[in-house]
Amino acid sequence: MEYEHVLVDGFGRHIEDLRISLTDRCNFRCVYCMPEEGMQWLNRDTILTIDEIERLARIAVDLGIREIRLTGGEPTLRPDLPAIVERLAPIPGLKSLSLTTNGFLLDRLAEPLAKAGLTRINVSLDTLNHEKFHQITRRPALDKVLAGLETLERYPSISPIKLNVVGMRHFTEDEVVGFAKLARRKPYVVRFIEFMPLDADGNWERERVLSGDEIKEIVERDFMPLVPVQAEASSTSRRYRFADGVGEIGFINPVSQPFCATCNRIRLTADGQLRTCLFSVDEWDLRTPLRSGATNDEIRAILRNAVAHKELKHQINEGDAFQRASRSMSQIGG
Ligand code: 5AD
Ligand code: SF4
Repeated sequence: MEYEHVLVDGFGRHIEDLRISLTDRCNFRCVYCMPEEGMQWLNRDTILTIDEIERLARIAVDLGIREIRLTGGEPTLRPDLPAIVERLAPIPGLKSLSLTTNGFLLDRLAEPLAKAGLTRINVSLDTLNHEKFHQITRRPALDKVLAGLETLERYPSISPIKLNVVGMRHFTEDEVVGFAKLARRKPYVVRFIEFMPLDADGNWERERVLSGDEIKEIVERDFMPLVPVQAEASSTSRRYRFADGVGEIGFINPVSQPFCATCNRIRLTADGQLRTCLFSVDEWDLRTPLRSGATNDEIRAILRNAVAHKELKHQINEGDAFQRASRSMSQIGG
């Protein structure tokens, strides 16, 4: 019966990683994610409560989930975020609890999050230039994010500090060396992520994808050679050390080098819908059963069935077959 308690999909992939979106709202308006105005927000009473999140998380860990990442929208907008971390961190069997944030509120939240038991964090930061930061996030907030990162360094229980940089052609090229230097000067692991067609405006164009290989070439040409670092099989990131041994950077290349074959993730939206792929067109409703008295066994059955139907791969590179996801990134949870 052991086998039944493991989430295995139709292609033999073992699902061990759950992303939980805590809200679809955000205090930024990144151009590759949200329109400036006019986002349709989820109705507040559809958002899962801390109790509902804890219950689902415990069931998922029971079924073999080993990593939970809290995302958004912007998860720090939830006043109960430290309390959620405090509830999830001690779940027996959970190996890693992490947070993805834009960093705007980290200055204030680093301490409560560390105290609540957070151990890993990803901060999104696409540029080190004030004007470009304002342009991309539509907020003049670079200094506040950098201050948040500095504060975070005072809490070594949260480590490593990872920076996510979305690579976009005509934007990221002249950021590359700056980020490479930052990855050496600071205890930050910088990771470049290829731009995916998940923006709410539908403005994505293949031409705007700056591939991980192109960025790597810039690093090696303009800065220093890189040496590969062995990563876990299910890792989406290709990791490298600088040739002189100081600092690490990585490349997450979902468009140019899809890693669907080893994908071990599922996602829960803030309103309690389970998605088995970033690009899912269908979702599995967990909120309704949660709120109408479903037993743990019934919830387990929904999770197992959803996982059994996990998509083989995304179709970004399949021309006309590509269907945009049914929600944008901020509504799904990165
Ligand atoms: N393509 C790639 N990454 C994206 N993110 C948001 N939208 C996109 C997109 N269209 C990133 C954010 C954050 C993480 C949750 O996903 O920058 O780091
Ligand atoms: Fe907010 Fe993240 Fe979307 Fe930017 S990418 S608008 S920070 S949810």
